[in-house]
Amino acid sequence: MAYNLLKGKKGIIFGALDENSIAWKVALKAHEEGAQFVLTNAPIAMRMGEINKLAAQTNSQIVPADATSIEDLDNLVTKSMEILGGKIDFILHSIGMSPNVRKDKSYGDLNYEWFLKTLDISALSFNKVMQVAEKKDAMNEWGSILALTYIAAQRTLPDYSDMAKAKAALESIARSYGYRYGKLKNVRVNTISQSPTATTAGKGIAGFGGFMEFADKMSPLGNANAEECANYCVAMFSDLTKKVTMQNLMHDGGFSTTGMTEDVLAKFN
Ligand code: NAI
Repeated sequence: MAYNLLKGKKGIIFGALDENSIAWKVALKAHEEGAQFVLTNAPIAMRMGEINKLAAQTNSQIVPADATSIEDLDNLVTKSMEILGGKIDFILHSIGMSPNVRKDKSYGDLNYEWFLKTLDISALSFNKVMQVAEKKDAMNEWGSILALTYIAAQRTLPDYSDMAKAKAALESIARSYGYRYGKLKNVRVNTISQSPTATTAGKGIAGFGGFMEFADKMSPLGNANAEECANYCVAMFSDLTKKVTMQNLMHDGGFSTTGMTEDVLAKFN
């Protein structure tokens, strides 16, 4: 059921790779709620052509951009304002990639060139997006900017490797830029810390299936899925959450504050 929560709002959505992507679900939901937006992803990620289906379904245009390139971001923001006919109300940063994780490098044997790539793609790109938007005065007053993160930024979990460092930086960037953008333009900036979700990025982590089940059993409400995450994103883009900023918002069914559950304990008794 739609509530017109984003009626008249214009946005940019990063990171819809295929129909499992969290950004894909956010785009569908935002469209349902009345938003207009531009879809973007790294040029290399578009070779599969999946994103064209989403664009057709949501009546939106695609502007490719490597989120680590200021030049690409500059072009994206300029074109988005042209396409949408004005300034932007919301941005979703749904981007994550670690070459070390992808290539199964252990944490004790990291490739540091790749580590820098992980940080650039998964964290610094968030800062770059906001800096470009600020310089081009692209955001409307009371706009909302979100990035997706994971609990491994704050608690150590096996196999999340250098992505944990990237997520910690991402959450810090939301606080720093949130302060700046709040003072400048009443724009809010937050991260949503999502449950493990079966997507291309998620499944890249070793032992993901078992971990997803563990997280589900450790969460009183169970894991939050991608559609539920999309609902939360829409709420955060809507005018109902105007004074929420500089927060890392847990969207994990209670996982992050649960010490033990009967379900998990039963495995040991
Ligand atoms: P996904 O693999 O569908 O999305 C990741 C996206 O990042 C892809 O669309 C990819 O093309 C894009 N990307 C990679 N390098 C890029 C670059 N240089 N420029 C622009 N885009 C680039 O996976 P998912 O799970 O939807 O990931 C979205 C976000 O959610 C990521 O930040 C991820 O870390 C986060 N997240 C995912 C969880 C999961 O278990 N799947 C849990 C918590 C957070």
